[in-house]
Amino acid sequence: MKKKIEDLQERLKAAHLGGGQKRIARQHEQKKLTARERIAYLLDDESFEEMGVLVTHRTTDFGMEDQQFYGDGVVTGYGTINGRLVYVYAQDFTVFGGSLSETHAEKICKVMDLAVKVGAPIIGLNDSGGARIQEGVRSLGGYADIFYRNVQASGVVPQLSAIMGPCAGGAVYSPAITDFILMVEESSYMFVTGPNVVKTVTNETVSSEELGGASTHAVKSGVAHCTSPNDVACLDDLKTLLSYLPQNNTEKPPVRDYTLGDELRSELQDIIPDNPNKPYDMHAVIQGLIDMDSFFEIQKDFAENIITGFARMGGESIGIIANQPLFLAGVLDSDSSRKAARFTRFCDSFNIPLLVLVDVPGFLPGTDQEWSGIIIHGAKLLYALSEATVPRITLITRKAYGGAYDVMNSKHIGADLNFAWPSAEIAVMGAKGASEIIFRKEIKAAADPEAELAEKEAEYAAKFANPYRAAQRGFIDEVILPEQSRRKLIKGFASLRNKKVEQPRRKHGNIPL
Ligand code: HXC
Repeated sequence: MKKKIEDLQERLKAAHLGGGQKRIARQHEQKKLTARERIAYLLDDESFEEMGVLVTHRTTDFGMEDQQFYGDGVVTGYGTINGRLVYVYAQDFTVFGGSLSETHAEKICKVMDLAVKVGAPIIGLNDSGGARIQEGVRSLGGYADIFYRNVQASGVVPQLSAIMGPCAGGAVYSPAITDFILMVEESSYMFVTGPNVVKTVTNETVSSEELGGASTHAVKSGVAHCTSPNDVACLDDLKTLLSYLPQNNTEKPPVRDYTLGDELRSELQDIIPDNPNKPYDMHAVIQGLIDMDSFFEIQKDFAENIITGFARMGGESIGIIANQPLFLAGVLDSDSSRKAARFTRFCDSFNIPLLVLVDVPGFLPGTDQEWSGIIIHGAKLLYALSEATVPRITLITRKAYGGAYDVMNSKHIGADLNFAWPSAEIAVMGAKGASEIIFRKEIKAAADPEAELAEKEAEYAAKFANPYRAAQRGFIDEVILPEQSRRKLIKGFASLRNKKVEQPRRKHGNIPL
């Protein structure tokens, strides 16, 4: 026993990271960190309290009884990030490839249970070869124990996953249930079945990186919410992301000090082009509206026709959903609808008000979209926004056409304040398409059909390509000038701070999944 304690003291001494965060950042900008270094860098200096350091596995098969390592491949405990409590686990790839044994799972479950009881975020730093093969079903049971807890904690405390090495097999499903997945470029990957199985079953040859690397999941699948070039950058992103979130679903997000002063933003006047078919970058509108440099984008490389992310408005956290005219003219399609719906549900779960910026020509037509289920995916966004009870403000910058007008946080589905710029066009469709349908006979009969179409198009545009009809009906609360918009939004969100909505009793709704 004495020997064991001496061993442990030696180990802890070796693990002690003198110099803390700055030292690690200096040494490891390009490298992978160890599990303990990751925790030391993530948490405030000296704040980490480790739990279960003496735990060892209970396996006796395959000579495992002779291979015992304190902690059993996962470092667990609690500490603070910028003074706020978090629970954390970091898998240690140097112990059986970070694989998950029954005891390894028990350690993770213990910190998850505490996080929920206390009401603090849980952060998982994943680096694991999956189920510990020598343990068989006990390891699978351990995974299921974690999955179950992920689901119970969903919407109660924020759950963040960083993927910092392999994450294979069923191991991917715990991160998938959590709220955000951050991946490290070129050193992490996630897949249900690896390249070898893929080759055997489908005869496809594919590398781990191609199959499930960070860029694959950031661009193609949308599984990753953020990617970072190395471990240090990934841990920095975790800290930034956390700064927008409350500790749990009963609290509001932290508020930053804010002094009134830069509300008028003249740069917003020149963003919308004169030609309504010319694209512009909605990021410029976002930057013009929010507190300086406060935007943290989520899923930035996936479904780029919609932008999602966190920002601050007068010091308060908000979630932003914005059509992006630079990509596919900002249409809604299956991927962008799913992306925005999930983001909406996260914000609503954790009391983060929503700002929706609208420039949308409609839903993307075509067999590809219809067959990929645009009906169901579009309905997800409609459902998610309709059920959201957090403060919700809409600003229509240009087009709000057709069903997409309804879906993008219209007054009709429960938005609290709806603004439009004078450049807004709120109509069933664009002037050209509309004229071709409703004036078909006149255009066909005209001596000069093209001139007739142009005339009708102008007539339709004059009637509908503006925000005033909608404002007359009260569907828009106010038509505002771009430069005044930030001021209006700050006042609007402040007015909605104490919003409360009573909902009918039900077990849960049935979102079209
Ligand atoms: C036990 C494991 C292990 C595992 C790795 N190791 N994975 N031990 N169980 N799942 C051990 C290795 O034996 C090795 O031990 C050490 O970890 C490092 O592994 P290497 O293979 O040398 O490392 P590397 O070349 O970097 O490859 C990493 C890897 C590979 C890609 C993760 O190890 C691998 O493919 N592992 C198996 C992945 C897998 O199929 N897991 C089961 C998935 S099914 P030594 O002693 O030699 O250093 C699953 C079901 C869950 O997870 C279902 C839940 C619903």
